[in-house]
Amino acid sequence: MRPRIRFGRVRVRPFVPNDIPAVASIVREALRENYPTSLYLDIHRWWRDGFLIAEANGNPVGFLASVMTSDGQARILMFAVTAGFRRQGIGRQMMDAFVQMCGMRGLRRIELEVRKSNEEAIRFYRRYGFDTQTVLPKFYTDGEDGYKMVKFV
Ligand code: ACO
Repeated sequence: MRPRIRFGRVRVRPFVPNDIPAVASIVREALRENYPTSLYLDIHRWWRDGFLIAEANGNPVGFLASVMTSDGQARILMFAVTAGFRRQGIGRQMMDAFVQMCGMRGLRRIELEVRKSNEEAIRFYRRYGFDTQTVLPKFYTDGEDGYKMVKFV
């Protein structure tokens, strides 16, 4: 069942290039990064099924972008929900759709990297069955360590 939230009904759908301005703005606000348009187009071209948008009242409020690795695993590159829309199950709805899609494609392992200090995201991933596999020393450009987290589908 789709959750009813304060802002109306949420729908998870595939990314389309028209979403780039909205996605870039979520990336700036939630992930504090600034990427060129070409990155989003590349990710979309590499694996269309792995780029999802969460839409509330017709506006993108979250997204999940991933790639399929050469050995047939999924790697989540970016995952975020706009600040005012968090803790209402939108992240869960996107992750559910993503995990289900991976299962249908026969992918059995999903991995991602997350900042050690990002307790909210780490808690979310743990509840989702991701385990911390390794510490990635100085993984981020500002010198912060990361965790590699893995979930078997
Ligand atoms: N009322 C109260 N709490 C709720 C409700 C509700 N109706 N619905 C869900 N929740 C709780 C969940 O139980 C969960 O609790 P927990 O954190 O204690 O486990 C929490 O809200 C989050 O669950 P969701 O609402 O499904 O997730 P959300 O939509 O908030 O998205 C996300 C999670 C994407 C991690 C979000 O926090 C975010 O965008 N953070 C900033 C960006 C970020 O750090 N992204 C991950 C970086 S790592 C990477 O990109 C690979």
